Amino acid sequence: PAPGWTVEADVVVIGSGIAGLVAALRCRPHGRVLLVTKALLDAGSTRWAQGGIAAALAPDDTPEEHLADTLVAGVGLCDEDAVRALVTEGPDAVRGLIELGATFDSAEDGGIALTREGGHHRRRIAHAGGDATGAEISRALRAELKDSGVEVIEHALVLDLLKDAAGRAAGITLHVMGEGQPGGVGAVRARAVVLATGGLGQVFSATTNPEVSTGDGVALALRAGAEVTDLEFVQFHPTVLWLGDGATGQQPLISEAVRGEGAHLVDHAGERFMVGRHELAELAPRDVVTRGITNRMRETGASCMLLDGRHFGAAMWENRFPTILAACRHHGIDPVTEPIPVVPAAHYASGGVRTDLHGRTSVPGLYACGEVACTGVHGANRLASNSLLEGLVFATRIAAALHEDLSRTLPATHEPPPANPPEGDGPASGMPVGLLGAGARGEIQRIMSSCAGVLRGADGLERAARRLAGLGGGDAEPGVEAWEVANLHTVASAIVAAARRRQETRGSHWREDFPERADGAWRGHLVTRLAGDVL
Ligand code: SIN
Repeated sequence: PAPGWTVEADVVVIGSGIAGLVAALRCRPHGRVLLVTKALLDAGSTRWAQGGIAAALAPDDTPEEHLADTLVAGVGLCDEDAVRALVTEGPDAVRGLIELGATFDSAEDGGIALTREGGHHRRRIAHAGGDATGAEISRALRAELKDSGVEVIEHALVLDLLKDAAGRAAGITLHVMGEGQPGGVGAVRARAVVLATGGLGQVFSATTNPEVSTGDGVALALRAGAEVTDLEFVQFHPTVLWLGDGATGQQPLISEAVRGEGAHLVDHAGERFMVGRHELAELAPRDVVTRGITNRMRETGASCMLLDGRHFGAAMWENRFPTILAACRHHGIDPVTEPIPVVPAAHYASGGVRTDLHGRTSVPGLYACGEVACTGVHGANRLASNSLLEGLVFATRIAAALHEDLSRTLPATHEPPPANPPEGDGPASGMPVGLLGAGARGEIQRIMSSCAGVLRGADGLERAARRLAGLGGGDAEPGVEAWEVANLHTVASAIVAAARRRQETRGSHWREDFPERADGAWRGHLVTRLAGDVL
């Protein structure tokens, strides 16, 4: 749709999780910054993050060891330079958050309390409020935003990238739903666009992600012709609270930190089935534990496995895991007296919009950070609690890059649009012609969970591709629901295309028909284009 109004900024940041907030705050000294977010400032995934933020903060830990654990979890597909940037800049970045007002839990000696999670050989996860780390980080960053001079538009769904005649990012179109702001479809013209739109978990029926995580940034990037990579690596968190077969929507997360503090995974006969499967047992990397749980469920025919933390006692549950305790009790489970029924659910996109070490995408003027980006730090499987850290470190890197780029390479103003732009200054390639109605949302989610979930195979993926293709070409009325469902459809189709192409098992991509890792053929990245082309 044609924009009915226009506002201007030097930098427009889309998204208000840790990546978007940090990018906006750190870019502010370099010019006028506008932050656009789909719902309220704290509605994204960051505030749901429980376990914490990983960094080599302990005296007996080093960035090199954090690097080694991250590379092992990523199963050969991490970009080592990107991981090195993450782990070496991580400790100062976390200390910067503390200076900014975030309060982390303290150890008895007054230092930062650190826990363990899957794949970490050291205690290096800082946490806040016991198991409410993301909420505390979000609170501190939002407080900082208040008087920062960053302008904010809430309730705004980003639609498309605007490009100038030279193919550079020149702003965005968006649809604003809130009151007290210009409403309807508008445009932000900007010298640089930072995508920080978060994840895509809502393409699956059951996910830890909130409702807003509909893959809008990946869909926009695909339409804009930006390179998107590693989409087949959707990480399934091993333990969400089992709410019965067929539970849909956002599921209550049971943090890996519960296992980090010593809870055991057992089957219904009480056997610790992860022991002997991996040297770290329950604290193996996330993909290994998810596979272990799924295998045991198949072997025993059970709908869930059990996480036993009864030995913690009431006081520890109340002090260390108050959020999880409350969620379990809300659903009629008391972890103090009974094991928690758990299953895996879609959790994190390790892939996304491909960037360099400074957050630059393949489209000049378009930057990406946080879950929407693929900086190369996660490879085939993200290491636990590296996600908040990645958002923090790479948003800071983007601000540094923009300091340079705004004064050197990015134009002060973009050329005005030609009268009949062949490809300039309109939406980069327009929204899909066919907009899908509300009913398609559930159908996409069902297809993805049944055919492209934890365990994948050629037949199921082929079926998924066919059924998704059959949904295209709808004629729903343009509007938020239809645009969001179009994004889900685009992203789901791209995930399926990449998952069909990668004929091996690696990290969080588990193919029952190709159960082994194939290092010779597949130790590389798949780049996805719109229309399902995978290169
Ligand atoms: C958790 O607390 O288990 C989630 C941590 C993460 O996703 O890194």
